[in-house]
Amino acid sequence: MSALINYRAEHRLALIGLVHAPVNALGQALRRELLQALERANADPAVDAIIIHGEGLPFSAGADIHEFGTPRAVAAPHLRALLLRLQQLNKPVIAALSGVALGGGLELALACGYRIGEPTACFGLPEIKLGLIPGAGGTQRLPRLIGVQAALDMMISGQMINARHALELGLLDGLSKSAQSLLHEACAFAHELLERDAPAFPEPRWRFPGSGLPDDFFSQYRLAQQSRWQGQLAPQSVVKALEAACTLPLTDGLALEAELFKALEASSQSAALRHVFFAERNVGKLPGISADTPIRLIRKVAIIGAGTMGGGIAMCFANAGIPVALLELKAQALEHGLMQIRSHYQISVQRGKLTTAQMEQRMELLHGTLDYAEIGDADLVIEAVFESLPIKQQVFRTLDEVCKPGAILASNTSTLDIDAIASVTRRPGDVIGLHFFSPASVMRLLEVVRGRDTGADTLATMLAIAKRLGKVAVVSGVCFGFIGNRMLEPYSREAHRLLLEGASVAQIDRVLTDLGMAMGVLAMHDLAGIDVSYLIRESRRDVIGHDRSYCRIADVLFEQGRYGQKTARGFYLYEGRQRREDGELIPLAERIAHELGIVRRVISNEEVHDRCLFMLINEGIQLLDEGIAQRSSDIDLVWINGYGFAAWRGGPLHYAESLGLAHILERIRHYRDALGAYGQMWLQPAPLLERLVAAGHTRIETLTAKDI
Ligand code: 3HC
Ligand code: NAI
Repeated sequence: MSALINYRAEHRLALIGLVHAPVNALGQALRRELLQALERANADPAVDAIIIHGEGLPFSAGADIHEFGTPRAVAAPHLRALLLRLQQLNKPVIAALSGVALGGGLELALACGYRIGEPTACFGLPEIKLGLIPGAGGTQRLPRLIGVQAALDMMISGQMINARHALELGLLDGLSKSAQSLLHEACAFAHELLERDAPAFPEPRWRFPGSGLPDDFFSQYRLAQQSRWQGQLAPQSVVKALEAACTLPLTDGLALEAELFKALEASSQSAALRHVFFAERNVGKLPGISADTPIRLIRKVAIIGAGTMGGGIAMCFANAGIPVALLELKAQALEHGLMQIRSHYQISVQRGKLTTAQMEQRMELLHGTLDYAEIGDADLVIEAVFESLPIKQQVFRTLDEVCKPGAILASNTSTLDIDAIASVTRRPGDVIGLHFFSPASVMRLLEVVRGRDTGADTLATMLAIAKRLGKVAVVSGVCFGFIGNRMLEPYSREAHRLLLEGASVAQIDRVLTDLGMAMGVLAMHDLAGIDVSYLIRESRRDVIGHDRSYCRIADVLFEQGRYGQKTARGFYLYEGRQRREDGELIPLAERIAHELGIVRRVISNEEVHDRCLFMLINEGIQLLDEGIAQRSSDIDLVWINGYGFAAWRGGPLHYAESLGLAHILERIRHYRDALGAYGQMWLQPAPLLERLVAAGHTRIETLTAKDI
């Protein structure tokens, strides 16, 4: 009796059905049972061919990611050994592929002699997203089936391809008419093979997978990608393994692949990316929200304000096929907003990412209006007007009047108090914050701000809608800046102060990009607008005003009209998107430092790193203590998806664990003491960090404030 496999033998065929819910991950137990089933079929003289299929489930999502880094990952039978055994069988094995065949799941299919897919099935080798390479023969068998170029594309992108594409590439031998008929058609295919006495393993399509490629193909490829890969190990290993597929016999190639895989599995980069994988699966798990929580139907959306954010948010919904009404105060602003949207779509058409017909379909889903009466039937309204509490409250009063009962009323505010906005309505349970990031149609992060009175069904509906939009939704409590911008504040404050103390703009940004940040913090302020951050500071002078040095250099840039990229001058000088250092910045920093009595000195890269990063981490830990963030991994997702923190570092709190919490605490205390009054003001360790270290904890990943 087998728990994870349904085995049937009939009409000369053994049908091995994988039934390990939810995704047939190839953990040790399934591997063992699969091996037993294969041996049974091999030993049965009544069986002449074997079919492996996902029974009522996807074929397989690959190796069980929970096992990596544990002895179970290598416990017998190892996937690699299992597939080698499969290839020794003298009976044709057919993979009948439904749902997904990913990673080790696709490698299982590649080890079979034949593959039949159903029309909605998807295929991929996403190991690179886990900091790995395919480790069960994929790097050697796929290029022999579809050629090096196509195999390289699949492995480097980690993206799935659909069944039709897989058939065209030669990954599949056939496609069933439907998902329902897959097994039946796979059986017919098996009988056909038996009738024509087909070999268990046909000759590889590509005996020389690299044939036709220029000699310097791999070196040129490496050169072209170098800056994009920036310190990441897995892409380099993919190329190395594929190079081996072109030059070595299969057995030697497999041995090299195994070696590369082992090193990657043990790497901190893969541990970080596996952390991110589970962080994404956990982020939607919230107290008070379950599969039973009612979800409201969202068929029509309205957006108030067709500016930068309103337009981008409207595109998100149109992209997902949901009709959107865009409301503005004045016809001119509305027209401008709709034109902006069209021009963004036109750029996508020019880049070949969208067809003209798709663009028109999306534009047809967008409807402009100046009249609130026209949005009374919207199921969800998202306000994206100016960042001013009185203005937003006025909009919400009107929405409360005109919107139908049960409509969800959301605000895209980036700093304001959702409870204060909800309080002007008679339905605070329907009010929620939806903090999209700019550009809204591109950025994956959506901070969902749960107000004091936000209903569980309101929240659950927004998490479901975020999934439809392809966003990573992270729930935050109400506080200034929510999770992301609140953490940005000390990170950014230290960068500004370091300029006054003696660091240069380029040095600060280089330290951060060397760490893997997509952009340095000062370049980011230039992009977001120095005027924007100035206005935010203006609204908070009561909490920052006691420090005259607080972002003083940015205040002066603002006074000089240097708003960043939009004025071609900010921390850097710009020609188009090209930036270069500005010789005026250092004298400016010297002058301000002199006025404030700050003694300038040589600042080490280490100090830049420690002060910017550790104060960012410290604030994240404080957010956990306050219950604003649920889990440390949620914070990591915010910074990876909203602020360009390198996923292969796992996000700021995973990174903190890898450096050591005690070390971080020690450094924060060091700078607090070394920096005099400034240190006392700003570099205070979060109490939770102190408690964690005192209790000897080295990990915050699974802890919440309640645990300590
Ligand atoms: N191992 C373990 N658990 C897995 C898994 C895997 N490979 N793939 C998915 N799961 C789990 C998820 O953690 C989740 O569990 P939960 O309900 O307890 O949170 C459950 O399956 C459902 O997953 P999703 O919520 O992601 O469901 P979706 O329907 O949105 O997506 C999926 C399904 C497309 C299969 C997606 O989960 C996915 O992309 N999985 C990862 C696939 C992958 O990376 N495979 C490669 C593994 S590495 C490998 O194979 C190495 C080999 O070369 C040796
Ligand atoms: P914007 O100035 O580009 O757009 C605001 C739009 O709202 C304008 O078109 C204006 O005409 C319209 N508007 C103003 N009052 C209105 C009213 N009473 N009724 C209808 N329309 C009205 O501003 P942006 O950048 O789009 O910001 C909008 C909101 O999104 C703000 O709350 C902002 O804090 C937030 N936000 C902005 C981000 C950004 O990067 N720009 C990122 C995340 C959130």
